[in-house]
Amino acid sequence: MDHKSYIAARIRLEGVETQEIAALIAVPPDTSLGDYALPCFRFAKLLRRSPVMIAEEIAAAYPADDVIVSAAAVNGYCNFRVNKRGLAEETLSRIEKEGDLYGSSAIGAGKTVCIDYSSVNIAKPFHIGHLSTTVLGGSLYKIFKFLGYDVVGINHLGDYGTQFGKLISAYKHWGDRAEVEKGGIHAVNALYVRFNSEATPEMEAEAREYFRLIESGDEEANALFEWFKSLTMAYVQKIYDRLHVSFDSYAGERFYIDKMQPVIDELKEKGLLVESQGAQVVDLEAYGMPPFIVLRSDGASLYGTRDLAAAFYRKRTYDFDKCLYVVAYQQNLHFKQLFKVIELMGMPWAKDLVHVAYGMVSLEEGAMSTRKGTVVWLEDVMTRCVEKAAKVLEEKNPDLENKAQVAETVGVGAVIFGALYNSKIKDIVFSYEKALNFDGETSVYVQYTCARAASVLEKAKEAQIAYMGAEIGDLTPAEAELVRALSEFPETVKTAASSYEPSVVARYAVSTAQKFNKFYIDCKIMQAPEAVRAARLRLTRAALTALTNALTLLGIGVPEKM
Ligand code: ARG
Repeated sequence: MDHKSYIAARIRLEGVETQEIAALIAVPPDTSLGDYALPCFRFAKLLRRSPVMIAEEIAAAYPADDVIVSAAAVNGYCNFRVNKRGLAEETLSRIEKEGDLYGSSAIGAGKTVCIDYSSVNIAKPFHIGHLSTTVLGGSLYKIFKFLGYDVVGINHLGDYGTQFGKLISAYKHWGDRAEVEKGGIHAVNALYVRFNSEATPEMEAEAREYFRLIESGDEEANALFEWFKSLTMAYVQKIYDRLHVSFDSYAGERFYIDKMQPVIDELKEKGLLVESQGAQVVDLEAYGMPPFIVLRSDGASLYGTRDLAAAFYRKRTYDFDKCLYVVAYQQNLHFKQLFKVIELMGMPWAKDLVHVAYGMVSLEEGAMSTRKGTVVWLEDVMTRCVEKAAKVLEEKNPDLENKAQVAETVGVGAVIFGALYNSKIKDIVFSYEKALNFDGETSVYVQYTCARAASVLEKAKEAQIAYMGAEIGDLTPAEAELVRALSEFPETVKTAASSYEPSVVARYAVSTAQKFNKFYIDCKIMQAPEAVRAARLRLTRAALTALTNALTLLGIGVPEKM
């Protein structure tokens, strides 16, 4: 049980739920008065006594024990002190026992979460705009798994639309098999771009015909489409591997083409479908939204129609408890409409659909590229960051082994971290310089801290110093702060999940690394007297475990040496 619940369970307040008390207990910014504080202002009205009196009553009645050693009232707050040695022993033992599972739990057992993320568009650039959805979704995937949920990662491929007819037409006119094979997604995309600027009206007509041919199952058209798709997928797969993300399903828009009709029929039956300028729509005016278009006047389906069919399919197939859509805030309206339509259809699970919206990522130096109208490919950003990481590492530690591998872990980690450190809804300007700052709020800083901890442990090993099971004595303030941070990791993971915010874990990693470094600088580890040294080594090892677990949940690797 965490401390907040522990304390709350020992407080009786007439008419107030234990949970409500637990939710109010907070860690004060200045812990000199106590490790936890319960503000009593909220209870004043209900209990008809002043907050000062209530706090005093709580303090007087609180049964202090080995875990919470004292309770004291100050100005309407009740402050609690934790048994620091007890907490240290409990936390370190738990981390030592659980290892790479420390922070995990079973709260999600028996529940399923679908996560729609990355959702790449076939034959289109995989650009910097796809970074957030890919790494946010990838991290949420790991976080929910860690909490015991069944997680289904879905890459809702953008693999349907008239653009594929255009692509075939462009390829037929200008394409060369060997060249496209070699150029991969870039060559495919170039054909598409060329079509959009150079296509004649005849080619436009031809493109429509090719699209129709794909639709009607024509062999050649489909073979070409599949080829373009496989080139795209081979390309993105390499990026997914480098970003440590994976998927359980690649059912994209095309997959739903034959699954739309039953949903459209149901809309009709329920009297929700109305005609508007020849199109079939669901009127959402009563909810202050434009109509949701289900079928265009020519009978064609839309992105939204496919999403509607996908939601029903996912519910049927996975019986999810939550279905998350990790998609940029530009699509806020789309998802609001989609969820509303499902709600109007009377589906109680409409409330389980969540749009996990995020802000834009741009490059600090990106203004130039935007002006030229060129897209910034995600792979280029990764490559660039790895190159820069290699340079920084070379300066810091020219003798480093496995330089290339470490640079990859550091550089790619910095790109991931750049997208995950801030609350997801914020727009982000990515700067290589800042992302690779060893002293900043960065993944490199955390990785470097891990390497530092690992190197201390390595020295202890070389000197054959045994420390496991060492008794924890009185703690210095820096040690106590670090222990406390370590003890808070499991709660942190849960908060990240419930708020769909990997940034909670990213921030935890930085602040815990800062606490480790304060401990490392304030307290001599290897030079300390034997008993103290052993306890500090245990603490070092536990910190390394917690930091490693935090980075792993973000999809970031931890080099052994840096
Ligand atoms: N491929 C779409 C895009 O790039 C994102 C799809 C998101 N998922 C969904 N189910 N709509 O905008």
